[in-house]
Amino acid sequence: MIYLDHNATTPLCPEARGAMLPLLEDLLGNPSGIHEPGRLARAAVDEARDRIASLLGAKPYEIIFTSGGTESCNLALLGLARRHRADALDKKHLVTAATEHHAVLHAMRSLAGREGFDLTEVPVGAQGLVDPDVFAAALRPETILASVMIANNETGVIQPIAKLAGLCRERGILFHADAVQAFGKIPCVPGELGVDAISATAHKFYGPHGAGFLWLRSGISIEAIQHGGFHENERRPGTENVPAIAGMAAAAEVAVKEALGFEEALREASLRDALWNGIQAIDPTAVRNASAAPVLANTLNVSFPGCDGETLLMGLDLEGVAVSSGSACMVGSIQASHVLLAMGVSENLARATVRFSLGRETTLPVIQGTLKALTRVLTRQSRFTQA
Ligand SMILES: Cc1ncc(COP(=O)(O)O)c(C=O)c1O
Repeated sequence: MIYLDHNATTPLCPEARGAMLPLLEDLLGNPSGIHEPGRLARAAVDEARDRIASLLGAKPYEIIFTSGGTESCNLALLGLARRHRADALDKKHLVTAATEHHAVLHAMRSLAGREGFDLTEVPVGAQGLVDPDVFAAALRPETILASVMIANNETGVIQPIAKLAGLCRERGILFHADAVQAFGKIPCVPGELGVDAISATAHKFYGPHGAGFLWLRSGISIEAIQHGGFHENERRPGTENVPAIAGMAAAAEVAVKEALGFEEALREASLRDALWNGIQAIDPTAVRNASAAPVLANTLNVSFPGCDGETLLMGLDLEGVAVSSGSACMVGSIQASHVLLAMGVSENLARATVRFSLGRETTLPVIQGTLKALTRVLTRQSRFTQA
């Protein structure tokens, strides 16, 4: 089995597994309990919070544990928009980018469609980048919140976040960054980026599924989007997933260290380039999307003119190679990727696209195996098309 779908999810790293197993086996108490078992569970959550906060150069109180990236983004956007609209009733405008993940885009559209906010979806250029001038022009006196992802899940494109966040800060506008793909791959220190909130999820950085966090700058108030108890300082009710939170903290430490060291990124970038060179040799008509933008070292987004991305994906799957034909969250959907369409890629080409995303276990033999499988699949497809 060749797995080149790390932007969808990553395997659990030994450090996360090691942190989780004792808790899965022995954890008895609820962290809200006041007896000894409860205190032990609480201590595990507190320790994880301290560890994640220190990785971000943040205060423990600024970390809100959630169930993952989708919940973190929803909490940030719905929670901040609702809370800060109440502060200033005339301020009701939101800004995001056209290539955001649906966790952001759909949350923003729901605020616009159901709660009376105005929303501007800033277009991107052909390389998938938000132009700071275009972004600045979208900001209005009544804008309260903007959200732009640090790195795109489909193309790997890295946005000029510090610049965009700076434009918001100058105008007193809150800025949320979806760091789900970036955290643990490139340095993501909120203080350096100048953002107000950051969303991340453990399963994208070799931690478990079902745990994520929202970092929210202290002093910024937020409205909980769920109703229940007083957990997470009344910002996210619900019993904490203690083993997953502990696993997330352990995985985050490894991933952040790796991201700061750059060695793994260089290794993955050279394998990704070998993959792209191989693809060009097999199919000289192949198009690498976002080829002139800064992109994550592990991501390669390629359109194969005349092919169908879903059929390619299935052909590769039969060959034992797991890739994605776009956002993993769109599996089962036959819609062309909104990210590629926003970059001006034609509908036909967008439908002919495959995303390869590499990870820690990717080696040169894995790339060579992928290229062999791809050659067989493309040959079969072209025979089928000619027949
Ligand atoms: C950029 C981005 N944001 C948000 C999410 C949602 O994260 P989760 O799967 O943890 O809900 C994803 C998942 O693919 C993503 O890639």
